[in-house]
Amino acid sequence: MIHFSSKLNNSTPSIFSIMSEMAREYNAINLGQGFPNFDCSLQLKQLVAKYLNKGMNQYCPMPGLFNLRNNIAQKITTLYKVEYNPESEITITAGATQALFTAITAFVNPGDEVIVFEPAYDSYIPSIKFAGAKPVPICLKAPDYNIDWNNFADQINEKTRMVIINTPQNPIGTIMANSDMSILAKILANKNIILLSDEVYEHLIYDDQKHHSALSYPSLRDKTIAVYSFGKTFHNTGWKIGYCVANKKLMNEFRNIHQWNVYCVNSFLQYALAEYMQDEESYTNLNSFYQEKRDYFNNLMKGSALNIIPAQGTYFQLLDYSQISNLNDLEFANWLCQKHGVASIPLSPFYTNGSNDKVVRLCFAKTKKTLEAAAAKLAAIKK
Ligand SMILES: Cc1ncc(COP(=O)(O)O)c(C=O)c1O
Repeated sequence: MIHFSSKLNNSTPSIFSIMSEMAREYNAINLGQGFPNFDCSLQLKQLVAKYLNKGMNQYCPMPGLFNLRNNIAQKITTLYKVEYNPESEITITAGATQALFTAITAFVNPGDEVIVFEPAYDSYIPSIKFAGAKPVPICLKAPDYNIDWNNFADQINEKTRMVIINTPQNPIGTIMANSDMSILAKILANKNIILLSDEVYEHLIYDDQKHHSALSYPSLRDKTIAVYSFGKTFHNTGWKIGYCVANKKLMNEFRNIHQWNVYCVNSFLQYALAEYMQDEESYTNLNSFYQEKRDYFNNLMKGSALNIIPAQGTYFQLLDYSQISNLNDLEFANWLCQKHGVASIPLSPFYTNGSNDKVVRLCFAKTKKTLEAAAAKLAAIKK
C-alpha cells in the first residue's frame, strides 16, 4: 500500500469542471467555459503547419525562440513605451499558468505572505499554498468591485513578499485605472515586495479605455513580473503558450526555476506566432472584435429581469440575479443550467470566504448564434 501526503490538502474539483459536466448532462448552452467556441485564424494555423512540416520540431533555446521574444519586446515598446531586452528579460512559457506558478515558486518561501484580490483567478491561491506561503485575500464586492487602497496598505507587513494583481480582471471584467496603478506604485515604493501582474486580457478592453500595464510605471519596474497568454489573444487557449516579462535580475531567478520545470516550450508554435504577430492588427483589433460581441449580447438582454453588469475588459461579464431569486450563487447556477439550459459560473468559489453577491459569470467569447440562443433563454426568465 502506497502512502503519501497531499501538498494541496482539500483540493476539490474546480467549479469549471463541475459546471461543464452539468452543461453536458443537461444539454445546456455553455457560457461558463472561459474560452471561444470559434476557431483561431486560418492564417495562423497555416503558419503552424508550415513550420511543423519544415521540421521545426526539436528543442528551442530555454527562454524561447529569439525572434518571438524580439517581436514581443517591440510590441511592449509600442504599446507601453518601455524597453525590455528580449535576450535577458522575456521568457516564453507554457501558458500564463506556468508563468504564474513559476514566478510564485521562484520568489515565495514558506512563512511569506502574498496579497491577492478576490474574486481571483483560481490558480493563484493553490500556487501560493504549494510554495508554503500564506495567501492574504482582499475581498472586492459587487457591483463596482472598487479597491480600498487604505485597506490594502494595512495588509502589508514585514512578511509580505508578493502582491498579485489581474487587470483586466477574471472573473469580474473590471480594469485597474491609471489612478489605481499610481496608488499601488506609491504604496509599493521602497518596499521589498514583488508585483506579479497578470495581464492575459491586455487586449480585451472596451469603450475606448486603455490597459495600464504594470510594465509602464517606472517605479514598479524593479519589482514587476508580468504574464501574458497567446491563448487569450489569438483564440487558441488549447495551445497553452504565453510569456513572462521582468527585469534582468528577476528574470534570471525566474529562469532558474523555468529551466527545471519546463526547460522550453514547443518550438513550431513559436515560429508560427513570431511570424503571425508581426502584423500588429492581429492583436490591436481585438478590442472591437470582442466589444461587438459584448454589445450584441447585452442588446439582446435589454428588458430582461436579469441585469448584466457590462464588462470593462476580458470576455467575461456578470449577471446580477438579485431581482429574481434569493438562491445563493451555486444554487442559482445549478437552477439556471438545469431549468433554463444556460451554464454559468458562480463567483463564490473565487472567494476564500465564499462571499456571495448574487452574481454569476458569463463568457461572451461565443458565436452570434450561441449568444442569441443563450439570450433567448435568459430573457424568457421572469421575475
Ligand atoms: C486571469 C487569468 N490568468 C491566467 C490564465 C491562464 O492562461 P493560460 O491559458 O495561458 O495558461 C487565465 C485563463 O483563464 C486567466 O483567466
